[in-house]
Amino acid sequence: MARFSFFFSVVALYCGLNAVVQARPSSSSRSLADKTINYWFSFGDSYTDTGFNPTGPLPNEANPLGNPAFPGKTNTGGPNWVGWVTGTYNTSTLLTYNYAYGGATIDRTLVAPGNPSVRVLTDQVNEFLDGAAKSPKVWTSDNALFSIWIGINDIGGTWNLGGDRNAFNDKLLDAYFALVQKLYDAGARNFLFVNVPPVDRTPMILRNTPAQQATERDIINSYNSKLADRVTAFVSNNNVGHGIYDSHSQFTQILNNPTQYGFKDATSYGSGNNFFWGNDYHPSSKAHQLFGQTVGKDILGGTGW
Ligand SMILES: *[C@@H]1O[C@H](CO)[C@@H](O)[C@H](O)[C@H]1NC(C)=O
Repeated sequence: MARFSFFFSVVALYCGLNAVVQARPSSSSRSLADKTINYWFSFGDSYTDTGFNPTGPLPNEANPLGNPAFPGKTNTGGPNWVGWVTGTYNTSTLLTYNYAYGGATIDRTLVAPGNPSVRVLTDQVNEFLDGAAKSPKVWTSDNALFSIWIGINDIGGTWNLGGDRNAFNDKLLDAYFALVQKLYDAGARNFLFVNVPPVDRTPMILRNTPAQQATERDIINSYNSKLADRVTAFVSNNNVGHGIYDSHSQFTQILNNPTQYGFKDATSYGSGNNFFWGNDYHPSSKAHQLFGQTVGKDILGGTGW
C-alpha cells in the first residue's frame, strides 16, 4: 500500500493557475488503508452553502453531506464544489460538515449580513466548536480538513463605502485569522484556504460602471494578496498542512476563455450546462464541477481527502 508522510504533498499547476500546496511535516506516515474515512469541515457563504443543518442528521456513508439529501440545497441547483469534491473528486469516503451559509460575511460587527439570521463565519465556527469539535468527536487532527472560502460578501457589501478599504481588508483578515486560531486550538491541523474570485465579473456587477467594477476589483486584489500573506505567516508559525485554492485565477482563466471550457460566453447566465453563471451572482453547477475537480484532483489528490 502506498504511504505518504505528508498530508499535502502535491504542488499543482492548473492551466497556469497556482494551486499552492505545502506539506505539513508529519511525525508518522499513514497508509491509505488507514484513511478510508476522512472528515471535512467547510465554512463559507452561498458559493459553498449546501443547506446543512448541524443539529440534523450528521454526515454518514449513506449521505456524506448529512442533510439535506445529496447534493444539498445549493444556490444555483446541482452540486456545488463541495458536492463535487465530496462525491466525485474524492479519494476516500469524505464525511463533509458544511457550515457555510448564504450571505455570510466574516463577522457581523465588521460587515452586517443582509439579514440578521445569516450565520456569518464567526457563527459557523462557533457551531463547530459547540458541536462536532466536542460531541460526538468523531474526527482527529490527522483525518480532518478545514476549508474556508469567505470574503465575497464582506467586499460586496462595502466596496463602495470609500475610505481606506485596504486597511479594512486588514481588519477583516484579523477577524478571519482569529477564527482560524480558534479552529487550530480545537485541533485543526490541515487547512484549505480559498481566495475571493473576480466577483467584479459577475453579470450583476457588470451592470455597474467600469469605474465601479475597477474599484471592487482593486479591493478584491488587495484582499487576496493580504490573504496570501496571512496564510504564509500562519503556516510558518504553526505546524499545519495547508493548501490554497486560487479561485480567482481559475475563474479568470475560464472567463477569459469560456468556449474552451464549454461555456457559451463569460457574461450570460441560465440553467443549461453551457452557462458559467447559474444566476447573475453565482456560478452554475457545471462551473462548480471545474472548481471541484481542481480542488479534489489537483490540490487534495494524493492527500487522502
Ligand atoms: C467517494 O465518495 C463516494 C460517496 O461517499 C463513495 O461512494 C466513494 O467510494 C468515494 N470514492 C473513493 C475513491 O473513496
